[in-house]
Amino acid sequence: LKLTTVEEMEAATARLLETGAKVGADAWQLRVKNQTPHCKFGEQGVCCRICAMGPCRITPKAPRGICGCDVHGIVGRNYLKFTAGGAATHSDHGREICHTLYEAKPDGAYKVKDPEKLIRIAKEWGVETEGKDIYDLAHEMAETALMEYGKPFGVQRWLKRAPEHTQKLWHDAEIEPRAIDREVATSLHMAHMGCSSLPEALVRQSLRAGLADGWGGSMCGTEFSDVLFGTPKPLDTEANLGVMNADNVNIVVHGHDPSLSEMVCEYADDPEMIAYAKSMGAKGITVSGVCCTSNEVAMRRGVPMAGNFLQQENVVLTGACEAIVVDVQCIFPALGPLSKCFHTKFITTSPIAQMPDSDYIRFDVGTAAEKAKQIVMTACENFKNRKPDLVYIPDMKQKATVGYSFEALVKTLDGVTNSQVDVTGTTKPLIECITSGVIRGAVAMVGCNNPKIRPDYAHIELMKKLIANDIVVVASGCSAQAAAKAGLMDKAAKDLCGAGLKRVCELADIPPVLHMGSCVDISRMMVLVAELAKDSGLNISQLPVVGCAPEWMSEKAVSIGNYVVATGIDTFLGVDPYVAGSSEMGQWLTEGVRDWVEAAYTVETDIEKLVDKMIDRIEEKRTALGI
Ligand code: SF4
Ligand code: FE2
Repeated sequence: LKLTTVEEMEAATARLLETGAKVGADAWQLRVKNQTPHCKFGEQGVCCRICAMGPCRITPKAPRGICGCDVHGIVGRNYLKFTAGGAATHSDHGREICHTLYEAKPDGAYKVKDPEKLIRIAKEWGVETEGKDIYDLAHEMAETALMEYGKPFGVQRWLKRAPEHTQKLWHDAEIEPRAIDREVATSLHMAHMGCSSLPEALVRQSLRAGLADGWGGSMCGTEFSDVLFGTPKPLDTEANLGVMNADNVNIVVHGHDPSLSEMVCEYADDPEMIAYAKSMGAKGITVSGVCCTSNEVAMRRGVPMAGNFLQQENVVLTGACEAIVVDVQCIFPALGPLSKCFHTKFITTSPIAQMPDSDYIRFDVGTAAEKAKQIVMTACENFKNRKPDLVYIPDMKQKATVGYSFEALVKTLDGVTNSQVDVTGTTKPLIECITSGVIRGAVAMVGCNNPKIRPDYAHIELMKKLIANDIVVVASGCSAQAAAKAGLMDKAAKDLCGAGLKRVCELADIPPVLHMGSCVDISRMMVLVAELAKDSGLNISQLPVVGCAPEWMSEKAVSIGNYVVATGIDTFLGVDPYVAGSSEMGQWLTEGVRDWVEAAYTVETDIEKLVDKMIDRIEEKRTALGI
């Protein structure tokens, strides 16, 4: 196995930026320069503009805003608002999936592909399944799930999946999420002028809003996407820009909601559409992806991954992208003006993400099939507008095995046990590996890229060191794509592991970095740790498991961080969440919350130190368990 290095990826990007310069294109690399240095007040979280008496910014000479709020209250409110933005976004994605499920029909564009999973969830929720038509059940479950967003009483249904100990911690700390929308609204209410300015209260609600995401909206997104599109199973794909094909019509799907990308993939495979592409002079159609929608279709269809977040402009810069089709979240508005420098069609599809300089083809469940067909045809027709002298696709791709949903992971790991019948279908084989020390622990690597960290470098270097230390990595989102691009999801990457993890990879026939899906699929990781705790009789916080987002950038990532910590998993960040301006907020997030949820944050911007701290933490947990 020859890994693709970050240097090689950077060289490819540099070459693409030369094309960009030729056509007068802007790029994030240039905009970062214009924005540096960043506003210090913003960076520290000490600027408040939530009322029109301000904006107020805290300095030694002006320690309070006009209303009298101190720096801790300002930083805390900003942090809570940041979280609420993320929780709203993930959860609304989940809601869209529930609506899609509600519209599923046996002869429609959307079907129930995993009825067993639907029945399993229905039983979990106490919904009668006996003798019910699967589509009637789907509609009932969709409606029940949609009620989770606004129900007036009670807490999230999914919480029952957590070990009892965790549920009790949540209850005692008063952070059990009620209706999902309510937690978002309450957060905005608390952060309104003249409401909460007490860091403790703001942090508590930040955890609760995060839990409404991870154990609410995101879990709806993941679970019902599986019901609709199938629960991922291991399959082979490829990653990096070299997956684009110069001879074919290239359609790049970007964003998060699989309702769109699934349909685009469906039509791109249609013989009629392929014939249409050929009639336009292409040899065929290649769909590839960017960001989480790419993870979704990679996990279920083996659609290749062109790249992650900070590569989104690169796909256009290849000059070979006929259409970049987006739904919601993490889409650079830059794609509009950039695509105008090329022949590329920038197709927006969601009322939630409308942008200048795009072709808006509004996509909805009722017209999904015809709109997907229209999108694919538009891309095909655009092939003839390509400017051949601008085409350059870096010859760079790696093989990757993806698709490790919780269900698939449990099944796969049955291969490593010494055959006791009672442990198959549980996480016990993995627990055996961990307690025996063959695997030292696990790290959940998640999150985005951020120009503040050399893109992909932290993800890849951290993972290499972890697996060399016999620590298995589960990855999602852009972190997973970084791993795939480098080659760490190739099964041959076992050779980079310590002896123990290497043996496990061989026995189970898995790569050492396991692709668990998109960002909403971090809920899969929550299910995994919950089951590990139940099967081992330990608390989640006792497991030698940590979470890490070394290059995160979005509000969603902070919401995720909050629910991962609140679930009892120490979480390591490589970028500070704008809280440096408040010692009290820092104290609450890195220590105080431990009293409630048995875990806390560590922020460490030095990547070398970050990985060592994670390994130390895992070893500490092992020592505490006497293993
Ligand atoms: Fe200033 Fe207080 Fe208004 Fe914030 S809420 S802008 S600190 S007066
Ligand atoms: Fe994502």
